Amino acid sequence: MPIFASLLFIVIAILFPLFAASAGWHGLLGIVIPCAAWAVFVFGFVWRVVVWARSPVPFRIPVTSGQQRSLSWIKADAAENPSGRWGVALRMFLEVALFRSLFRNTRTDLYKGRPVYGRTKNLWLFGWLFHASFLVILVRHLRLFSEPVVPMADTLAAVDGMFEIGVPTLYLSDLCLLAAAAFLLLRRIVIPRVRYISLAQDYIPLLLVLCIAGSGLLMRHFDKIDLVAVKELASGWICFVPTLPEGLTAVFFVHLFCVSALLVWFPLGKLMHMGGVFLSPTRNLANDSRRRRHVNPWNAPVKVHTYEEYEEEFRNQMKAVGLPVDKE
Ligand code: HEM
Repeated sequence: MPIFASLLFIVIAILFPLFAASAGWHGLLGIVIPCAAWAVFVFGFVWRVVVWARSPVPFRIPVTSGQQRSLSWIKADAAENPSGRWGVALRMFLEVALFRSLFRNTRTDLYKGRPVYGRTKNLWLFGWLFHASFLVILVRHLRLFSEPVVPMADTLAAVDGMFEIGVPTLYLSDLCLLAAAAFLLLRRIVIPRVRYISLAQDYIPLLLVLCIAGSGLLMRHFDKIDLVAVKELASGWICFVPTLPEGLTAVFFVHLFCVSALLVWFPLGKLMHMGGVFLSPTRNLANDSRRRRHVNPWNAPVKVHTYEEYEEEFRNQMKAVGLPVDKE
């Protein structure tokens, strides 16, 4: 069962740093593994994007959710089926920022033996919350990597903790990330048809994110960490001067190890949708195939007979039987 294999993976991802921290392997946990993971992430990400970017895409793939621009008297849908660069930018923005195509998600049920389709927004809502809160947390983390702290990180932290629940303040994004990741995981486990198509590579990133968020919350609210030591460690990575300060806890090493595992996992599988969405031909190409002729550059040369040539050849016969012609 993929879920048990994934759980085993996560148990190892928690136990290994705990064991290594108690054995005193701080250099391995704090420097070697995170730096190697970052290198794999950057190299793997760039590699996959370059491979996609080099794939030829000779044709447009219009998606049928809106009318394509054609004749002047037929109203076109500029956002769903854009025919120019600005429309493509708008469609891409709506897709990336608001997950627009997922918003159209439907569910199918059997009603009196017949399939019926209904709206469902849960996946869109929790999927969006998951990504938005993840982004907010990453931006807030910039305070650990910058001195003086970038103003954006402080402003975001102030907004995120505006309800001032507890000391230190509980961030809303942390709650949202936990809730959304738990929903996305439970959905895969509880709904039989989703469980049927779920693999370990679907469960593992979600479990890793839950571990990262859980250990982060532990560090912030219970097993407090020396943030000055963390900043010293992080500036060592950035300046290529590895430093191992005192005061790093076992929970911090679990946090860092799970982040490293996620970084290595990223370019290997479906998490690459982050880079892939920008290279997806159904999203990034203007749908102008009714106005422009796109010719596949590696087609063998073919003698074509265009409509103009056809009309030129048969104009008299067409007129004789009353067919409309372009040129009189
Ligand atoms: C995928 C990347 C990461 C995610 C999703 C993540 C997530 C979290 C979350 C949810 C928290 C709880 C408190 C908060 O939101 O600030 C947290 C705290 C923390 N994280 Fe991360 N983290 C990531 C990467 C890192 C890295 C690379 C470091 C090492 C510099 C780090 C160090 C910390 C520390 C020190 C805390 C405690 C902050 C405090 O006490 O206020 N995190 N993390």
